[in-house]
Amino acid sequence: MRLQLYPAALLATATTVLAAPSNRTCKLTPHDASWPSVSEWNGLNATIGGTLLQTTPAASSCYTGNPFGASTNCTDVTDHWSYAAYHASWPESIDYSIFTNHSCLPPGVDGYTKERGCSIGAHPVYIVNATSEKQISTAMHWANERDVRIVIKGTGHDMSGRSTGAYALSIWTHNLNHFAHDARWPVPGTNKTIDVAILGAGNTWGSAYTAVHAINRTLVGGEDATVGLGGLIQNGGHGLLSSTHGLASDSLYQVTIITPDGRRLVANDVQNTDLFWAVRGAGGGQFGVVTEFVIATHPVPESVVTGGLTFSAAAAGTSSNANVNASWAALVETARLIPDIMDAGLTGTIMATTESGPSDGVSGIINLTGFNMTIASMNATVAELSTRLRTASGAHGDLTIALQSPSSKPYWASTKPAPLASRSCGAGSMISSRLLGRRELLDIPPPKLTSYLERILTPATQGSSSMALFGLQGGRGTASTPEERRGSTHPAWRRAYAHLMTYGAPVNATADAESALRTGADWYEEHIESVWREWTGADGGSYANEGNVFSGTWKRDFYGPAQNYERLLGVKGEVDPLGSLFVWGGVGSDSWEYGLRDGLLCRV
Ligand SMILES: Cc1cc2nc3c(=O)[nH]c(=O)nc-3n(C[C@H](O)[C@H](O)[C@H](O)COP(=O)(O)OP(=O)(O)OC[C@H]3O[C@@H](n4cnc5c(N)ncnc54)[C@H](O)[C@@H]3O)c2cc1C
Ligand SMILES: *[C@@H]1O[C@H](CO)[C@@H](O)[C@H](O)[C@H]1NC(C)=O
Ligand SMILES: *[C@@H]1O[C@H](CO)[C@@H](O)[C@H](O)[C@H]1NC(C)=O
Ligand SMILES: *[C@@H]1O[C@H](CO)[C@@H](O)[C@H](O)[C@H]1NC(C)=O
Ligand SMILES: *[C@@H]1O[C@H](CO)[C@@H](O)[C@H](O)[C@H]1NC(C)=O
Ligand SMILES: *[C@@H]1O[C@H](CO)[C@@H](O)[C@H](O)[C@H]1NC(C)=O
Ligand SMILES: *[C@@H]1O[C@H](CO)[C@@H](O)[C@H](O)[C@H]1NC(C)=O
Ligand SMILES: *[C@@H]1O[C@H](CO)[C@@H](O)[C@H](O)[C@H]1NC(C)=O
Ligand SMILES: *[C@@H]1O[C@H](CO)[C@@H](O)[C@H](O)[C@H]1NC(C)=O
Ligand SMILES: *[C@@H]1O[C@H](CO)[C@@H](O)[C@H](O)[C@H]1NC(C)=O
Ligand SMILES: *[C@@H]1O[C@H](CO)[C@@H](O)[C@H](O)[C@H]1NC(C)=O
Ligand SMILES: *[C@@H]1O[C@H](CO)[C@@H](O)[C@H](O)[C@H]1NC(C)=O
Ligand SMILES: *[C@@H]1O[C@H](CO)[C@@H](O)[C@H](O)[C@H]1NC(C)=O
Repeated sequence: MRLQLYPAALLATATTVLAAPSNRTCKLTPHDASWPSVSEWNGLNATIGGTLLQTTPAASSCYTGNPFGASTNCTDVTDHWSYAAYHASWPESIDYSIFTNHSCLPPGVDGYTKERGCSIGAHPVYIVNATSEKQISTAMHWANERDVRIVIKGTGHDMSGRSTGAYALSIWTHNLNHFAHDARWPVPGTNKTIDVAILGAGNTWGSAYTAVHAINRTLVGGEDATVGLGGLIQNGGHGLLSSTHGLASDSLYQVTIITPDGRRLVANDVQNTDLFWAVRGAGGGQFGVVTEFVIATHPVPESVVTGGLTFSAAAAGTSSNANVNASWAALVETARLIPDIMDAGLTGTIMATTESGPSDGVSGIINLTGFNMTIASMNATVAELSTRLRTASGAHGDLTIALQSPSSKPYWASTKPAPLASRSCGAGSMISSRLLGRRELLDIPPPKLTSYLERILTPATQGSSSMALFGLQGGRGTASTPEERRGSTHPAWRRAYAHLMTYGAPVNATADAESALRTGADWYEEHIESVWREWTGADGGSYANEGNVFSGTWKRDFYGPAQNYERLLGVKGEVDPLGSLFVWGGVGSDSWEYGLRDGLLCRV
């Protein structure tokens, strides 16, 4: 057994901790007298089959003396730092380093500064490399009893740092990757059977799709192969098939979950029903570790047809101002057409960008996808769309439109990007989003819609580019899901067509992480959340996995009506009364305060 003392870098934060007022009730840190001793941690390790890891930041090998003794090659770490799949492969690593307080970054990557050096920072202190439910149950019970914070990591993709935490014991679900198929799984409480996939929570959508491909079935899941089941499903989860079959959690029929006190609960339509309702929407990392999902499979579409177009203000023409107006008119017309396009069976994305703010016009990339559809039919839809955009913009100025030639490919070709395809990670990621229905897209005067879109596409720095992305992930699929399958997902999903995301918050990667997050959050609050509130009203909803956990109205943004939130609080109180599991924007999270600077998680 390795009896390693805490590296000096970790102890460096001790002064802040000791200066904290004694009346604060906080989760333990290694500087507290009651923090478990090394021999106690060794005792835990012995009871969980030696699966306890002391956190070893992957980039430690980039620092003089390799302070944590990482087995990595620094060149390798540096080269792969921007790949999501790489972070998923390490026990402690996460996609967005701001949430580890940028501690121990490979030199040269975004967010790196020499002064930060290599410390544990806001990484967990110990990690269980779990391979069995028993280990998870033992470790959680042990930490919960001792008032040690617990975090859960699947892939580490979370955009709000919800799979890491300072001074925590982390449960890493990566190796819980079993798969089984049951074509006649009895639905609890009925005499019905359905075709299900039984998947360990450590699976990614890549491994899950591969597994169901072999049985000629598919799942509602994420569009990127590197995303994990754990965080996506529990927050609802959307993907290519959500506009057909509803959210990922709408197809969930059972979970096995280990609560912080170590109980193993099977939750479904007849057993632990409140918990089952909660984990279908409210989000991961809050109620316990899901070890296994039982998910209804769906038939494989015969084909996937794609098509679309791009538009932008014509470079020359009557007057450049008129062309700018024409491009905005085209974006507004596109937004207004979303409900009809989706009711006709299409899904896809619409990206709106400006090069240097709204006054220079907006460009759109419309990517549409249809299932079991002919190329001719997609071609006709795109041609019609093009005509509509021309008509809508023609009164203003000139528009440049380029049609994408439609094509058809087998369904599986669209679900299996190369695992390293997404070079998507970085120092920080702050997103803000809302779900938009007919009310927000069609039932408001076009000038209002123009103004909302212009405002969310106004960059923080004048002259910078801006981007917003409409995901066409609601529509018939989410609307037609029966009440009992909707779980605790925000009711706005059921009338939503598009999920619109904006990315404009200024996040200074080299500044102190806590202040940088605060600055970004303040900017969103003033410039974006205010627009959403005006646009979507008090019952507007956001998708927490791609939303702003620092929004001043996060409770209603993510959880909807107060009675939903109250019911979730009840479940949280039942399964985690000591608050061992905390995530920003989580149920009951306002009873706690967590800061990246002191790393303390304290009751308020
Ligand atoms: C490249 C990329 C593509 C994406 N594409 C999509 C998409 O197509 N559709 C979509 O809906 N979202 C998408 N997302 C958002 C995605 O749903 C979130 O990032 C989500 O948090 C990922 O879950 P995870 O388990 O992979 O990540 P993690 O960071 O490991 O976990 C996320 C949260 O869930 C908790 N958690 C994870 N596993 C468990 C478990 N077994 N039990 C309990 N809690 C758990 C963690 O504690 C954390 O709070 C994408 C994100 C990225 C980075
Ligand atoms: C802690 O005690 C001080 C002094 O009694 C008081 O001013 C402060 O509000 C208390 N803080 C909390 C978090 O209770
Ligand atoms: C846990 O035990 C295993 C096997 O004995 C050992 O390799 C590992 O280093 C231990 N973990 C810690 C944190 O000491
Ligand atoms: C690390 O990997 C690089 C590239 O594969 C190789 O050139 C280098 O020798 C390796 N360094 C060490 C210390 O093994
Ligand atoms: C976080 O980083 C700041 C410097 O920006 C540092 O002062 C602080 O000690 C760090 N906190 C933790 C928990 O790593
Ligand atoms: C985690 O456990 C798996 C399965 O036992 C093992 O293959 C892997 O090497 C372990 N990972 C680490 C980082 O210890
Ligand atoms: C299931 O079938 C049994 C036996 O036929 C019947 O008694 C029971 O009512 C049925 N249950 C449901 C939920 O339909
Ligand atoms: C796979 O499933 C689809 C949809 O149910 C069906 O049309 C197709 O024939 C099946 N293919 C094979 C090889 O069984
Ligand atoms: C596409 O066709 C297959 C086979 O006929 C069918 O099972 C499936 O439900 C259809 N639609 C979609 C969106 O998959
Ligand atoms: C563009 O639109 C704005 C706002 O509607 C309007 O004031 C302006 O006159 C228009 N410019 C041109 C050249 O059409
Ligand atoms: C699509 O429609 C255009 C006319 O709008 C036609 O020129 C083109 O050949 C069509 N392409 C396909 C693949 O049907
Ligand atoms: C989206 O549309 C653009 C422009 O038409 C095209 O270049 C790109 O390949 C499309 N992307 C996908 C995923 O179909
Ligand atoms: C980012 O933060 C660093 C460190 O505080 C500071 O030197 C720099 O000026 C900041 N950059 C911007 C664009 O504010």
